[in-house]
Amino acid sequence: MGSFDGIKLYKDKGEHLYVQLYKAIKELIVKGELNNDEKLPPIRKLAKKLKVNNVTVVNAYHILEQEGLVYKKIGSGTYVSPDLLAYAYEERGVSNNLGSLSFIEQGQIQIQKNMINFASATPMSELFPVGDFKQALNEVLDRDGGHAFDYQESRGYFPLRKALIEYVEEYNIFANIDSIQIISGAQQGIDIAAKALLNYDDVVIIESPSYTGAIASFKSRGAKIIDVKLLDDGIDIEDLDKKIRIFKPKFLYLMPNFQNPTGISYSRDKKEKIIELCKQHKIYIVEDDYLSDLNFYSKDNATLKSLDINNELVIYVKSFSKIFMPGLRLGFLIAPPIFYEHLLLAKHSSDISTSGLLQRALEIYFTKGTWKDHIEYMGEKYKDVFDVMLKNIKKYMPSQVDFIYPQGGVNFWFKLPKGVSSKNLYETAIKKNVAIAPGNLFFVHQNDDRHFRLSIASVDSDEVEHGIIIISNIIRDLIEVKNDGEVKEEVYRPIL
Ligand SMILES: Cc1ncc(COP(=O)(O)O)c(C=O)c1O
Repeated sequence: MGSFDGIKLYKDKGEHLYVQLYKAIKELIVKGELNNDEKLPPIRKLAKKLKVNNVTVVNAYHILEQEGLVYKKIGSGTYVSPDLLAYAYEERGVSNNLGSLSFIEQGQIQIQKNMINFASATPMSELFPVGDFKQALNEVLDRDGGHAFDYQESRGYFPLRKALIEYVEEYNIFANIDSIQIISGAQQGIDIAAKALLNYDDVVIIESPSYTGAIASFKSRGAKIIDVKLLDDGIDIEDLDKKIRIFKPKFLYLMPNFQNPTGISYSRDKKEKIIELCKQHKIYIVEDDYLSDLNFYSKDNATLKSLDINNELVIYVKSFSKIFMPGLRLGFLIAPPIFYEHLLLAKHSSDISTSGLLQRALEIYFTKGTWKDHIEYMGEKYKDVFDVMLKNIKKYMPSQVDFIYPQGGVNFWFKLPKGVSSKNLYETAIKKNVAIAPGNLFFVHQNDDRHFRLSIASVDSDEVEHGIIIISNIIRDLIEVKNDGEVKEEVYRPIL
């Protein structure tokens, strides 16, 4: 019976024998010691070998089947579900990867002057509302004097939290004051959620691909990261369901609107199914809403938080960096009551509080309504570039390149034909003064070499065409080289 020979069950362990057996077989599967579609030993044979009742084996197989780890063929037996080896490798891979702290550094792309920058998803400083914010800052200083420089309470400046309640109502989120926590940017929000919720070895499920900063934060907590493929209308629900059953994650980290890096938006149906699934399995969601305000063509940019009517599942993390000013380091989160204290402690141990001066200025900026005008202005600016980008991608990008049409946001995601390397594309484009983000950065194991992301946040609409022509021509050349059979085997080296 090979791998099954090592299984030992103990009657005096205080745990049912079938549970012990189920755990032992699960471990064999997760460790990759059984093959896809490998037949498990017949019930009677295994029962005899382990000196237990047939029912013990039947029950153990039944739980494995419920978790999707095995499947039954009527009249034939029980088999290991395919794809599980991939999960097992993922699990081990991540565990081995815990120390790779250079990850975030690799995400830093050096941008030269005059470069066409499709790599950064950061808005151009020319768009920042400096004049209006200066006025708000002056008002705070005239009004509050030195108090503006006191330590602010860790949960955040009360009037700002009140203003945010009104702000989120426009997005059908009905928060109460206690649920709102001010954070020094969404990155900190993700990080304190990880700190508050995760213990070493806990599992987090993320989309594949996902946001590099979140992956780095979960890794730093010693979490196991399991990824689930994104389809055109959002995460693959069947795979998610299976992995939830197998890995029992602490939470899902999701970006349901204009996802980073793919630009994909989840269908309403999928958003609702995810809420149902998480309710059923009692799993939390960390929703990263970094961009839902930049909706150009989507019919539904509802957040998961707006569907979490009882405020029990979703920790909603809101960034202002893409639509406002990233250097302010200001955002907020809305959490279910069960997390209030944990998040507050995590926030306090991170930086005590977010700058009181900036929170006060933001509150004035919000309550005066200047904010709305600015979002409208940013929306118009981005939509201009977005439309120019779409037009030029359609016009110039080689047909062999797969491309996801986003309906808003700032990111465009591409898949190169087989044999064409995104690292090559990145390196060649940089020499021609065009920066792109190679796809490997956005995957847990960073072993992707087929994808790349172009962002419109840092480009002018009148440089888009030139940039897309350069990228398209490089890809054409790379395809030609590949077709001539001259592609050299890639040697991996850090690129950023
Ligand atoms: C998806 C996503 N979440 C969070 C962040 C971090 O945002 P903040 O600047 O608010 O910390 C970013 C920044 O690029 C992002 O792309």
